[in-house]
Amino acid sequence: MIRINENYTKLKASYLFADIARRVNAFQQASPDKKVIRLGIGDVTEPLPEAVVAAFHQGVDEMASAGTFRGYGPEQGYDFLRELIAKEDFQSRGADIAGDEIFVSDGAKCDTGNIQELFAGDTRIAIPDPVYPVYVDTNVMAGRTGANVDGRYEGLVYLDGTMENGFIPALPQEPVDLIYLCYPNNPTGATITKAQLKAWVDYARENKALILFDAAYEAFIRDPELPRSIYEIEGAREVAIEFRSLSKTAGFTGTRLAFTVVPKTCMAYDSQGNAHSLHAMWNRRHTTKFNGVSYPVQKAAAAVYSPEGKAQAKALVDHYLNNAAIIRKEMTALGYDCVGGENSPYVWIDGKMGSWEFFDMLLTKAAVVCTPGAGFGTCGEGYIRISAFNSLANVQEAMERLRSVLK
Ligand code: MLT
Repeated sequence: MIRINENYTKLKASYLFADIARRVNAFQQASPDKKVIRLGIGDVTEPLPEAVVAAFHQGVDEMASAGTFRGYGPEQGYDFLRELIAKEDFQSRGADIAGDEIFVSDGAKCDTGNIQELFAGDTRIAIPDPVYPVYVDTNVMAGRTGANVDGRYEGLVYLDGTMENGFIPALPQEPVDLIYLCYPNNPTGATITKAQLKAWVDYARENKALILFDAAYEAFIRDPELPRSIYEIEGAREVAIEFRSLSKTAGFTGTRLAFTVVPKTCMAYDSQGNAHSLHAMWNRRHTTKFNGVSYPVQKAAAAVYSPEGKAQAKALVDHYLNNAAIIRKEMTALGYDCVGGENSPYVWIDGKMGSWEFFDMLLTKAAVVCTPGAGFGTCGEGYIRISAFNSLANVQEAMERLRSVLK
């Protein structure tokens, strides 16, 4: 008899954004005349930068000709892209990362979900709350938790984010081995300073712990004092893996390209206390389970780092940041306390009522989709997240609708 992985029965029936999509579809079917404005899932709406499109076409043309056709590429990504990423995203900011420490992939969601395979079943895991649900659910699937009791899984160490601590949780009070951090934060839009991030790096070094640092939204940082990579912090090379993505940086949600940085100095330990290279382990996993991102997509990704590509990608991010500023200004004017929206595409709003109640109200009265904070954890209850990923016209119209419903 084929048996299931019973850890799956501990999960909520559906993934947060699938749940929201179902509710929105039901509303749209019941009210087909209403134009729904989606400020829920963080999915980009604007086209790829021109330089990227040109390189993408060129990549396809090369695949169409016998002389330039390519089959399987290196699983870790082509050197032309890895070297460019290392130079432009890290070395240019004083972060000591080499091209062969970059693993190109098809998404930060997949990488942040898959990385847990490298760690022991009894790893003590610290999870911020609220949090991107992928970090939690993939550990539940792997059997690292007990049951879900009142919205929290037994066996995880939750790090509370609140308005009072600015959604930068305090260091854990009990020993942990693996720490998930995401800054600029999804869902709260909060950012972390170098001094705050250094405290986490120091903690990890003192406790032989590892930080999984999700920096998928780093391109939204405009404050020059804020770190864009954890490797800007001294000592992070030994204790941190960083996840990046072109999804929000250059409009790649539908094109798919991300990368994970695993420094060669990053170690984890076996039951005898012997150190093992996480770079070697991730390389083993990657080469076993992944055959690389397609050549035209990697070629398109490299164009993001060209002078024109950089300017165009920055303009794209500026567009969403402008939307975020409008959302934050409007919600603040309506009397709501907000976090984020300044160096982040997400505005996190204290809704002063239940998250799903607020979500339903916005959907049914304004036909505007947001994301209920409770979907990101118990500390998210009472909050909603509004995403800046849409056209300016849609954001302006959504804010007009919200004004008439909420004032
Ligand atoms: C979100 O809305 O939180 C993001 O789109 C999720 C993701 O990037 O997978």
